[in-house]
Amino acid sequence: MRERFIKIPGLIDTHVHFRDPGETHKEDFYTGTSAALAGGVVCVIDMPNNKEPITTLQKLKQKEEVVKQKAVCDYGFYFGTSEENSRHEEIEVLNRVVGLKMYLNLTHGALFVSNLEKIKEHFASWPKNKPLLVHAEEEKVSMVLSLLKQFPRRVHFCHISLKEEIEQIKKAKESGLPITCEVTPHHLFLTEEDEKALGPFGRVNPPLRTSADIDALWKNLDVIDIIVSDHAPHTKEEKLSSLPPPGVPGVETTLSLLLVAVSQGKLSLERLVDLTSTNPAKIFNLSSDHKSWVEVDITESYLIENENLKTKCGWSPFEGKRVTGRVRRVFLRGQKVYEDGKVLVKPSFGKNICQ
Ligand code: NCD
Ligand code: ZN
Ligand code: ZN
Ligand code: ZN
Repeated sequence: MRERFIKIPGLIDTHVHFRDPGETHKEDFYTGTSAALAGGVVCVIDMPNNKEPITTLQKLKQKEEVVKQKAVCDYGFYFGTSEENSRHEEIEVLNRVVGLKMYLNLTHGALFVSNLEKIKEHFASWPKNKPLLVHAEEEKVSMVLSLLKQFPRRVHFCHISLKEEIEQIKKAKESGLPITCEVTPHHLFLTEEDEKALGPFGRVNPPLRTSADIDALWKNLDVIDIIVSDHAPHTKEEKLSSLPPPGVPGVETTLSLLLVAVSQGKLSLERLVDLTSTNPAKIFNLSSDHKSWVEVDITESYLIENENLKTKCGWSPFEGKRVTGRVRRVFLRGQKVYEDGKVLVKPSFGKNICQ
């Protein structure tokens, strides 16, 4: 007979947008980290594309102050690249962030960089021991790979989604380049057919792809280092407007979706733990805390339903999907922080992992 409860290390989601400060009508750090715990996530790394992007020490310090009183799980931040901050001389910034995020395509927020000279300056001056993360789609993936010949360094590719992209990354890894990559559950489980049904609620960057792309991601699972949610909440009103912003929430559904894949034999539980905990800790130099874990009832099956979510945006592209495996309890630094739908700690329990 199958065991009912399993205990796995708490998930580390290294790609979330909790919108705080600046767009707290979409999410704030309390609702975002509450959603994280509900999904078995004990640590999140938040992206810098806030309303006022995190591209200066001053903006970073303001964000630290705001978030400090709101987090129920642990967290860290990324710094954002701009065309003005490409020298990276401020040691204070370096010590306060997990990595540097560069947007090489247009997406939500105002962080797009296109000036090749500035891009090269960032590649050359950001310290080699801290990851440089890129939002790079299609030909921008090739551009980064060729830049790496001139400026060898660690680079992490965010949300890889195409067959061509994962195959290029596989080749580049085989040639010895020190690169890593992540994929999202929406790119592993949803296709462009789903986007037709979801309308604006399936609009995301990179877009949902074909089933051939999905098959290529699953086939190249050993090339993938991390699975992240790219939790990117927008309100229903915004999604239904004439210009829906790109992005879908996901921090509380990643684990259940992956457990379905485990039950179908597409993924081993051991590999799930590597992709959601061991590898993110390794790649982003996070101390892996052995006192953080999640207890999951792997026999319980339930429907993902908008009204049961903790994210402030109140919807999921997976609404109506049946999943098996429910998070019952979450322990962080030895303390029980979540049980059966309830967050059990104060909104200042979460720690900034860089402080
Ligand atoms: C993200 C957002 O809304 O902040 N949107 C998205 O479609 N993924 C930005 C990003 O990660 O590109
Ligand atoms: Zn067991
Ligand atoms: Zn992105
Ligand atoms: Zn993102």
